[in-house]
Amino acid sequence: MFRKFVISAVSALGLMSGAALAAETAHIEDFAFSFEGPFGTFDKAQLQRGLQVYTEVCAACHGLKFVPIRTLSDEGGPQLPEDQVRAYAKNFTVVDKDTGEDREATPSDKFPANVDAGAPDLSLMAKARAGFHGPYGTGISQLVNGIGGPEYIHALLTGYSGEEKEEAGSTFYENHAFSTGWIKMPAPLSDGLVTFADGSPNDVEHLAEDVTAFLMWTAEPKLMARKHMGFVAVLFLGLLSVLLYLTNKRIWAAVKGKKTA
Ligand code: HEC
Repeated sequence: MFRKFVISAVSALGLMSGAALAAETAHIEDFAFSFEGPFGTFDKAQLQRGLQVYTEVCAACHGLKFVPIRTLSDEGGPQLPEDQVRAYAKNFTVVDKDTGEDREATPSDKFPANVDAGAPDLSLMAKARAGFHGPYGTGISQLVNGIGGPEYIHALLTGYSGEEKEEAGSTFYENHAFSTGWIKMPAPLSDGLVTFADGSPNDVEHLAEDVTAFLMWTAEPKLMARKHMGFVAVLFLGLLSVLLYLTNKRIWAAVKGKKTA
């Protein structure tokens, strides 16, 4: 019994110091994204720019295998017109399930997976990585600041120092946001790499911000609907509480009103 306790205490300590070490190397800055906070919403134009950055840059190595292409026209998302979604789908080639042959993707397909570069799928990355947990990791702080996944991706994309090293036949690039400090992904963004039709700023900071917002949308496409529903539920519960309080008062009025001498 005692031995078990000591073993678990020691391993818990080990885990904690590991986490503390990781936290020391990684520096994640909080960032005010439009979709954070109880009433935050996705910025449609930003999602469209982020989609463009993903398509022109990240898609070369990363897949989005859980995201159906048709959702690009969904309300609350990038909201591309349907004909543009159809045209966009043609960028990708997928394997037809029935014939087993390659064909152009259609909106009913998902974005293809991409495993060639050994890069992880990005569909859920913004939720899979928590960059920070706010002060003491309270629920309220998460509600206001988010869980930090988008902040982590933003910090990762902008966190390259320019140093690189060869190790065991692979090249690693120094990155201040990555847990080990050295990542296998070469810095994907550079100033002016993507040009937006509306002339939006396209330095590394802005490109990173836009593609991060887009990845938050792929990870949680119903974020706005969920927040809306939550708000209605809170409002309803508030009203119900008032009604119950008044009913309660009325029911007991006869008893409570009596003075006991
Ligand atoms: C040249 C190929 C390549 C391109 C282009 C690329 N990546 Fe990566 N990415 C990788 C590889 C490889 C890894 C795995 C790195 C590792 O584990 O050391 C990775 C890992 C990641 C991770 C996960 C980091 C983690 O915590 O495990 C994120 C997030 C990411 N990339 C985002 C992006 C975004 C956003 C873009 C587009 C702006 C992009 N990548 C473009 C190759 C690429």
